[in-house]
Amino acid sequence: MRKLIEEINNLKKEKNAIILAHSYQNIEIDEVADFVGDSLYLSQQAKKTNADIIIFAGVYFMAQTAKIISPDKKVILPNINAGCLMADMINHKQMLDFKSKHPNIPIVCYINSTAEVKAECDICCTSSNALQIVKSLNSDKVLFLPDQNLGKWVENQLNSVKIITYNGNCPVHHNINVSDIKDARNKYPNAKILIHPECKPEVSKLGDYVGSTSGIINYVKNSSDKQFIIVTEKGVYDRLKRDYPNKEFILIKDNMLCESMKLTTLEEILNALKNETTEIILDEKIRQASSNCIERMLKVSN
Ligand code: 13P
Ligand code: SF4
Repeated sequence: MRKLIEEINNLKKEKNAIILAHSYQNIEIDEVADFVGDSLYLSQQAKKTNADIIIFAGVYFMAQTAKIISPDKKVILPNINAGCLMADMINHKQMLDFKSKHPNIPIVCYINSTAEVKAECDICCTSSNALQIVKSLNSDKVLFLPDQNLGKWVENQLNSVKIITYNGNCPVHHNINVSDIKDARNKYPNAKILIHPECKPEVSKLGDYVGSTSGIINYVKNSSDKQFIIVTEKGVYDRLKRDYPNKEFILIKDNMLCESMKLTTLEEILNALKNETTEIILDEKIRQASSNCIERMLKVSN
């Protein structure tokens, strides 16, 4: 593995490339990543970078977002099959139908969506800034897509905004039930329960903290507690175990795995750097239209 890592790092320098990695990636990817974090942090890095090539160790919508906001860079997704089940739950036509059923209401789209869908929305959000983004609209009604759970969680935090959600979800997080959290609370009464807001709102309600993947990691960093129940994808749990060997972590269920996130390997990253495949190519009209809602988000949450 050392040789592989060295080869990747050399090639990165030679080609002026950077590697952005999401916290759900296989943990060894961190050895070659320039930045590891949540969707918001990685899109901010994609916008800032002076690199010529961005290798995105994540899923398709993340690499596509990087291309939308950094059109002059070559953006590469090492494994083109790395999709997002939630982003696939709404296509352009379904988006237009949703919009026409609820006219004249501002639309927030979660970053886990395609460029075609983003192009029809007013502003984008991620799990770490959804609350701030909805508030920034100053509207008593908001359409939110595709994640019903994140949308309803935001609504529960704000007394005065009605959020009409599309019925998408992330199957990895949607699979967690209230009984799982109650059982964990009974078994580990001293543990803090940290939950990603893609879980059902009735599940999130039971957490000691609800936030993005980076939010969860930062909570642990700043906490003097010793035991934590992790209610998100296993990549976050793996990194916490590596970085805080004196604390104890319990993953809420064994099957908290996003298969798409695990498709990217170090070998594929090396190939992606060597062959510069698969490059994200976007129709310029769609790119421009979708960049508006991402840029608006970046302005609000910078
Ligand atoms: P974060 O923005 O919290 O990293 O979430 C991305 C994601 O896809 C969670 O399933
Ligand atoms: Fe998409 Fe869920 Fe995987 Fe996140 S964990 S990338 S929302 S399928």
